[in-house]
This record gives sequence, structure tokens and C-alpha cells, in this order.
Amino acid sequence: MAAAKLQAPRGTFDVLPEEALKRRELYRRTWAVLGRGGYRPFDSPAFEDTELFKRGVGESTDIVRKEMFTFEDQGGRSLTLRPEGTAPVCRSYVEHGMHKLPQPVKVWYWGPFFRHERAQAGRYRQFSQVGIEALGSDDPSLDAESILLLAELLEAAGVRETTLKLSSLGTRDSREAYLAQLRRYLREHEGDLSEDVRARVEQNPLRAFDAGHEGTRAVMAGAPQLLDGLSAEDSEHFAEVRELLDDAGVSYEVDPTLVRGLDYYTRTVFEFESERLGAQSGVGGGGRYDGLVEELGGPPTPGVGWAAGIERILLASETRFPGAPRPVYVAIDESGTRRAAFGLVTALREAGIRSEVEQAGRSLKGQMKHASRIEARAVAIVGEGIEWRDMDTGDQRPVTGVQEAVRIAVGMNG
Ligand code: HAM
Repeated sequence: MAAAKLQAPRGTFDVLPEEALKRRELYRRTWAVLGRGGYRPFDSPAFEDTELFKRGVGESTDIVRKEMFTFEDQGGRSLTLRPEGTAPVCRSYVEHGMHKLPQPVKVWYWGPFFRHERAQAGRYRQFSQVGIEALGSDDPSLDAESILLLAELLEAAGVRETTLKLSSLGTRDSREAYLAQLRRYLREHEGDLSEDVRARVEQNPLRAFDAGHEGTRAVMAGAPQLLDGLSAEDSEHFAEVRELLDDAGVSYEVDPTLVRGLDYYTRTVFEFESERLGAQSGVGGGGRYDGLVEELGGPPTPGVGWAAGIERILLASETRFPGAPRPVYVAIDESGTRRAAFGLVTALREAGIRSEVEQAGRSLKGQMKHASRIEARAVAIVGEGIEWRDMDTGDQRPVTGVQEAVRIAVGMNG
């Protein structure tokens, strides 16, 4: 019987070297942008107590209802592969008493996240996010700053022509009166709503704005809007965020139907979309979550942040990320020895030169072909002596030894 073919699980993928190089380059640019903004690196575990996401992300969200990879460990504890990074950052803030540090505490993270979604282009079951969170201040300049940093990151990543959608959900308390009004409206039009939306009228009526269902969309076109019912403080906060964005020359669309898929948001919410992504148009998004730390057992602490999908950034990017620098290739002629060649490649690397040595038993002709294929800038042919061949000019000449070969290679670096 033939062995079953093994493949990466559905919704996951290997990152092959060419793509991995782009990711490393994106990471470098990300670090530069977010570091300039005063954000410091942070990592949390890949799995957490299931309870964290139930409480943090919200029982009525798609994520908690049907997308979590949840399992029991040997000790009978329920654990979940993290579907997002905000609840873990807040858990960590509480656990480490970070409210005692100078506020706001600003961190950024980069890593794998897991959601059991229907896999398609731009939507995976294991994906990577870069994100930032700023905890401990409700200053509107933090909202504006975080949006600017995401805009700057997308620009540095070559993601152009994005649309920024912006709205405010108000604080939890001030939202209550509006939610009651929306529930009433939804119940009046119950017959036209999708089953999914109907089932969540009580728990999460805002999700109705996100529905794809045609009947629901028609109903929502006439629904009362939250932006019209914001409290004076919330309106003022939103106006200040917009003013700072206007001053910075960031263009945005105020979209009163923007609700986002996680329950913790209060006040500012935003999302960057790219047409290049097709159906999964969200490149990155986030907002303010002023009640989340308290929800997780900490002191009342405002927070704001966003996350962006690395795969989606790279899909939407127009940049040709630079590849690795061209290597020097050390070839071995019939009269040369493996020892001499290995000694030369080691000396080149010690001098900081990216270099490779023949390791596949090829003839000299085969080695020269291979050197062209890997776009070597020069080949050092080790025989009785060493010949140096410049692959761009085709010039070839003997050199006196390892030292001279290294000197030439370093000189080529300019
Ligand atoms: P989110 O909108 O659920 O927000 O995810 C942020 C980004 O992650 C999306 O815009 C998308 O680029 C990417 N993403 C999400 N799911 C997938 C998937 N299945 N496959 C590929 N990419 C995906 C959050 O996660 C919030 N924690 C953001 C936040 C931080 N809000 C405040 N602070």
C-alpha cells in the first residue's frame, strides 16, 4: 500500500526561502517604523487559557463562536491557539502590573495567529500579524498616532492606494441607548434578516452592519446610526482624532457602518483596505478598547492599537523586495582539494563576504553553470593555485592566495 501523501494542513503554508526573504525585509522595515514611534517589542505565548479569549474577544463574535483552535492539555485545562493579540497584551499588562510603569505602555508584536476560517486567497488558518498596542491613556493623539504608524508601515511596505475607513463606537455606557434603539429597529424588520443576525439581535446587534446577506443589507441601509447618537465626550474625542489626522494630511472616509469583528472596541475604530486584495480587502485595522483591561481583572485602563496581516501586506505590496546580496562562489578544479576550497570559503565568510562552496560533486563546467544560476558576482576556482573570475566582466586571472582573494572580494563590496 502506498503511504498517504503528507501535506501542510488546510489553511496553512510553508514559507519558502524567496518569500521568507521578503518577510525578513518587511520585519526590518516594520521595526524601524514602529521603533521610531516609541513602541517596544513584545511577545506572548502562542496559546492561552481559552477563558482569555471568551472574555476578551467576546462570546458573541465569530472568532469565539466558531473559529478557535481549542484543545485540552494533559492536565485537563482548556487552551486555545491565540486568534488575536490584543487580549494577550492586556492579560500581560495586568499580570505584570504594568499600570505602575510610566503610561502609556507601548508595545508592538509580530507572529503567528490561528483562526479556523474557510481558507481562501488572503485568508488562512495560520497567518501572521504585526500589531501595536498603547495602554494607559485615552488621549486622542494616541489614536491618531497609531493610525499614522499603520499608514507609514503600509507605505514602507509598498502598499499604496489604500482606503482608510474610520468611525467611532462611543463608550460602552453611552452606546447602550443606541443599542436599544437598534434592537428595536432590527426586531421590527426581523422577517428580512438573516438567521445569523436574528440570533444575535440581543447579544450583538452591531454585527448586523457587517452582514453579507442581501435582505439584511437592505434593512441596514435604513438603520439608525451610532455616530448620530454619540455622547458629547465621545463626539469631542472623535473630532480631535480627526483633526490630528487632517493636520497630518491623512485622508480617510468616515464610515458609520464600520463595526469590526471583535467585541472590545470603544470609541475610535478604523480599517485600511486595499483593492488589490479582492474579497479579503482588509489589510489592517484596530481601534480603542477602553474597557478590556478591566474586563480581564485589571484596573480601569484605556487602550488603543491595531493589527495587520503580513500575508495580506505582501499580497498587496507593489514593491520588489531586494533579494539576498550576490555571493562569491568557490569552485573546485580537478587539481584542487576540498580542504583548500573549504579554507577559502571560511576565510571569505570571516571577512563578511556572502559565499558558497561546491558541495554537490559537479564537474568544473557544471560548477560554472551553477555559479551563473545563483547569480554569483565572482567565482574563485581552487586548483593548484586560485583563479579569480569576475562574472560580470568575464575577466579571469590568477591570485596569489587566500589573502588576495579575500582582499578582492572585500574591495568589490566598495
Ligand atoms: P482583525 O481585524 O481581526 O483585528 O485582524 C487584523 C488583520 O489580521 C486583518 O486586517 C487581516 O489583515 C489579518 N487577518 C485576520 N484574519 C486573517 C486570516 N484568517 N488570514 C489572513 N489574515 C488575517 C485584530 O486581530 C485585532 N486584535 C486588532 C487590534 C489590535 N485592535 C486593537 N488592537
